[in-house]
Amino acid sequence: MAQSSFYITTPIYYVNDVPHLGHAYTSVAADVLARYYRKKIGEKNVFFLTGTDEHGAKIAEAAQKFRLTPQEFVDSQVPKFKKLLEILNISNNQFIRTTDKEHEKVVQDFVFKLKKASYIEKRKYQGLYCIGCEKYLSPEELVDGKCPDHKKEPILQSEENYFFLLSRVAQEKQLLEKIENGKIKISPESRRKEVIGKIRAGLEDVSISREKVDWGIKFPGDNNQTVYVWVDALINYYSATKIYQKGPRWPADLHLIGKDILWFHAVIWPSLLLAIGEEPPREIFAHGYFKVNGQKMSKTIGNVIDPIEVAQKYGADVLRYALLREFPFGEDGDISEEKIKQRYQELASGLGNQVSRVISMINKYNVKINPNSKIYIEILTYDEYMESKRFDLILSLINEHIKLTDRLTEKEKPWELAKSKNNKKLENVLSGLYHRVAQVAEYIYPFMPQTSGKIKKKLTDLDPAPLFPKLDF
Ligand code: MSP
Repeated sequence: MAQSSFYITTPIYYVNDVPHLGHAYTSVAADVLARYYRKKIGEKNVFFLTGTDEHGAKIAEAAQKFRLTPQEFVDSQVPKFKKLLEILNISNNQFIRTTDKEHEKVVQDFVFKLKKASYIEKRKYQGLYCIGCEKYLSPEELVDGKCPDHKKEPILQSEENYFFLLSRVAQEKQLLEKIENGKIKISPESRRKEVIGKIRAGLEDVSISREKVDWGIKFPGDNNQTVYVWVDALINYYSATKIYQKGPRWPADLHLIGKDILWFHAVIWPSLLLAIGEEPPREIFAHGYFKVNGQKMSKTIGNVIDPIEVAQKYGADVLRYALLREFPFGEDGDISEEKIKQRYQELASGLGNQVSRVISMINKYNVKINPNSKIYIEILTYDEYMESKRFDLILSLINEHIKLTDRLTEKEKPWELAKSKNNKKLENVLSGLYHRVAQVAEYIYPFMPQTSGKIKKKLTDLDPAPLFPKLDF
């Protein structure tokens, strides 16, 4: 699909705890796509948004533990999330916080429009609320009376709330048809099917205000209620189109999310937009989960890998590479520090070795690189796999490309060409290898931007020093 602009988002992260590897995962994938599209359609046509989700009971509870006001607490947490982005070299254009005053104003206007469109109704409600999920759970969702993700018993809450008439909106605005005909694209296909099945099974209206949660945006026209944290959070994607100069235009082209928050993004969010006469997002892509010993990795469960520590140990690019190389982006997989280390070694003995070897030979045989020699082969499916987010396949093809260059080197034996003084051929062969290495630097750029830059510099300076030095641990 020819595209003239690209607006991509990550979920906004809960700041109740320090950032973990799950957060890094969505951000890295979004960054890969943002960098890819910037090259393809131009810097200024891409807008990449990320940020933090700072209201609600979960955050207020965490603040209390630290004996801080919620505002003091979120202000102390946000720099940690920004630091992670910096360490991982994430190229977001803006960082939105739900406590930004401009965002709060957009949320109030949005909710006001929902009211005006008569899609809100006040009702008494009683339900089982999980603070970890920040949502009501149905009794069927519980395992031994507990939330399966957070392993805690939900709280019985009884309140008078404002309800968003989801079932009516979905029917009147033809939500299901829009998903079925691809106007709202849900990927991968298995997730699309899952959503369609659930919509067909029937939709329930959603409570979109809270009486007992103070830490939130005041509900327009009712000072005793705050806007439900998920509604506040989802609107961030839209706020960005209103509050930033040179910001993106609505609709978003792609919301990258984890599969746990698919329902909010694929059903509730498009319905909220359709209810106020706005376009739904174009695509929602739900990635899988890493597991640690078969269990979801989450702050609440406490089995997290610290992405900052790992990035500092192996380098941000290696972490970025390892995260996307390990398993298909849309599926679940296992991750561990050991696996990240193995990926470091794969890079050192593959790409790193090759760069040093080719440059060393060029230096040793004093060869002048011929700018026109072309013996390289393109990865034809690169764009297709980028669009379908098969990062694992692209990375494995790049590895094949690297291996093929090694085989070419072995076949052409530049050292023998040098010995027999076959200078013309030697120049051709080494020029070809040089260009293949330069080509890999282009291919890996979205995934490993620093390494790509380093390779380009090495090729210019003819510097053979290793890209991935030997680890001493
Ligand atoms: N604040 C909400 C999102 C609101 S968006 C309008 C939220 N935040 S979160 O911090 O809990 O999660 C953010 C993202 O991290 C989600 O996409 C989630 O799926 C992802 N991950 C959290 N743990 C993960 C793994 N163990 N593996 C992969 N991704 C995971 O939800």
